[in-house]
Amino acid sequence: MKIAISGKGGVGKTTIMALLARQFKEMGQEVLVIDADPSPHMAQSLGVDQPEKIRPISEMKDLLRERSGKVEGSAFYNINPQVEDLPERFIVEADGIKLMVLGAIQSAESGCACAENTVLKRLLTRLLLKPAQVVLLDMEAGVEHLGRGTIAGVDRLLIVVIPSRSGIRTALKIKKLAQECRISNVSFIGNLVHDDEDEQFLREGLGESPLACFPDATAIRRLERKGRPVTDALSEVGQITAELVAALQNN
Ligand SMILES: Nc1ncnc2c1ncn2[C@@H]1O[C@H](COP(=O)(O)OP(=O)(O)O)[C@@H](O)[C@H]1O
Ligand SMILES: [Mg+2]
Repeated sequence: MKIAISGKGGVGKTTIMALLARQFKEMGQEVLVIDADPSPHMAQSLGVDQPEKIRPISEMKDLLRERSGKVEGSAFYNINPQVEDLPERFIVEADGIKLMVLGAIQSAESGCACAENTVLKRLLTRLLLKPAQVVLLDMEAGVEHLGRGTIAGVDRLLIVVIPSRSGIRTALKIKKLAQECRISNVSFIGNLVHDDEDEQFLREGLGESPLACFPDATAIRRLERKGRPVTDALSEVGQITAELVAALQNN
C-alpha cells in the first residue's frame, strides 16, 4: 500500500502520518516513511535519535549534481540518474519504522533546479516501488507537481482537512487536482474535530464522510511541546488510528 498525504500547512499531516506509521508497524507491517516536506519534521514526530542531524537529500546539492551528470555551463543532464544506492545510505530508523528525509521537490513553475529535481523524483519513484508493505509519503503541497512516473506509484491519497470553510475549500481543490493526475483513490481525513457538529460540517462541505476524524487531542499537544514523538499519543488516539488503518485496508 503506497499512501500519500496532502492538505494545507499545519492541518496535521505529519502527525497523522506518524500515527499511521506506528499503527501499521505494530500490526507487523514493514513501513517506509518518506518526508518530502520543504521543512521536514517527520524524524522528530517518529522519535528518530538526534533528528536535527539529519540533512534532507534535497539539500545535498553536490550529490544531486554529481548524480545528474550536469556540467557547469551546459544545459544537458542525465534524465536517468543512478539512485539505487541512495536508500541504503540515507534511510534512518525509529523503532523499526524506516524513514527517508527527501526534503522539497520543486514544481517546474517555481524556476526549479531541474537537474537536481530529476534525481530527487527518480529517487522518490524508486522508493515508492520498494517492496515495503506500506509506504507513506508526507508532503506539503499537492501531488500535481510530482510527475506521472511518481504518481503512478501512489495508490491512495489522503487529504487532511479541519472543519473550516477555507479548510474545505483547499481540500476540495487538492482532490480535483489529484483526480486530474489520475489518482482515483482519494479520501479525506478530518482533524481537530471537536463534536458532531464539526463532523457534520465536514460531511456537508466535502460531499462525503471523511474516512476518519481525529479529535483535538491533549496528548498530541503535550508531546509536541515536550519535543517527544507523537507516536506516543496512540494511548489517546489509538482506537481512531486503528479504525483508519482498517478502513484503508478494506477499501
Ligand atoms: N489531532 C490533534 N490534536 C492536537 N494537536 C494536533 C493534532 N494534529 C496536529 N496537531 C498539532 O498541530 C501542529 C501542526 O501539525 P502537523 O502534523 O505538523 O501539521 P502539517 O504536517 O500538516 O503541517 C503540531 O503542533 C501538532 O502537534
Ligand atoms: Mg508536516
